[in-house]
Amino acid sequence: MADRVCLVTGGNSGIGFELCRGMATAGFHVVMVSRGTKKGQPALEKLQAEFGDSVEMMLCDMSDLENISKLYAQYSAKFDRLDILFNNAGAMWGKRQFTAQGHEMTFGVNHLGYFEMTRQFLPLLKSTKDSRIINTASVAHRMADLRLDNLNHENKWYNQWRTYGNSKLCNILFTRELARRLEGTDIITHCFHPGVVRTRFGSGASGVVWLFWPIFRMLMINARRGASTGLHLALSDDAATSNGEFWASKKRRKGSRHARNDDNAVQLWEKSEAMVNV
Ligand SMILES: NC(=O)c1ccc[n+]([C@@H]2O[C@H](COP(=O)([O-])OP(=O)(O)OC[C@H]3O[C@@H](n4cnc5c(N)ncnc54)[C@H](OP(=O)(O)O)[C@@H]3O)[C@@H](O)[C@H]2O)c1
Repeated sequence: MADRVCLVTGGNSGIGFELCRGMATAGFHVVMVSRGTKKGQPALEKLQAEFGDSVEMMLCDMSDLENISKLYAQYSAKFDRLDILFNNAGAMWGKRQFTAQGHEMTFGVNHLGYFEMTRQFLPLLKSTKDSRIINTASVAHRMADLRLDNLNHENKWYNQWRTYGNSKLCNILFTRELARRLEGTDIITHCFHPGVVRTRFGSGASGVVWLFWPIFRMLMINARRGASTGLHLALSDDAATSNGEFWASKKRRKGSRHARNDDNAVQLWEKSEAMVNV
C-alpha cells in the first residue's frame, strides 16, 4: 500500500499532466485520471518512463456523474487513503452541449464534476490525516454573469466565454463554501489560477479568436509553470495557514467581488447538492 496517494483529474494533459509529474517527484503515488485510454495511455507511458509504477491511470469521463461513483469504487477497492485530490479536468465548449444527466456541459463538467468528485471522496479524505483538495479555477471568473436561478443556462443565448467564466466562478465559490463546511477537520482546500497556459485548452471552442490562437499561444507560459501554484498549494506549509482561498502565482488573491460572496457560495452548494442527488 502506497504511503501517500494523490489523484489528479484531467491528469493526462496540460496542467494536470504537470501536476502528476510534480506530485510523483515529491514522492506520492499518483493516480492520473483520464477521460479515456486514447489520450490517457500515451501520457501514462511518458510518466511511467520517468517514475515507473508510482504512477497509474484510472478512467473517468466526468460528463456522466455516474462514472465518478465508479471511479470511487475502483479507487477505494485499492487504496484506503487519499492525501491530495486535484480537481482539475475542465474545458470550454464552443457549442451548447449536455451531460448524461442533462446539465449544460461546461457547468456539468467544470463545476458539478468537481463537486461530485469531492463528495464521493470526502470520507476517504477525512480519514487521511492532513489531506488537501486543490481546485483549478481561473481568472476567467471575472467574465462571469452567474445566475443562480439558471445554472444550466436554459433559454439563454450561449456564449462560450461567459459560460466558461461562470463555471470558474463556481470553482471559487465551491472552494470557499467547502472550506467553511470543513471547519473542525484538518483538511485544507484552495483553488488557483494557473496563468495563461499553453495546453490543449480551447481545442473544442469556436469563433474567430481561434484564427489568432497560434499567435496567442506563443505568449503563454508552459504547463510546468502553470502547475506550479497548484503544487505549492498541495505541498507547502504556507498553504496550510489558511483555508478556502483563491491563489495565483503562489500568492493569495482576492478574486472578484462575486467570488467573495458567501451567500452565493451557500446557494450554489445547496443547488449543486440537489442536482447531484437527483
Ligand atoms: N490553459 C489555461 O490557460 C488555463 C487557465 C486557467 C484555468 N485553466 C484550467 O485548467 C484546467 C486544465 O486545463 P488545461 O489548460 O490543462 O487544458 P487541457 O490540456 O485541455 O486539459 C484538460 C484536461 O481535462 C480533461 N477533460 C475535459 N473534459 C473532460 C471530461 N468530460 N471528463 C474527464 N476529463 C475531461 C481533458 O481530457 P482529454 O485529454 O480527454 O480532452 C484533459 O485531460 C481546466 O480546469 C481549465 O479550466 C486553464
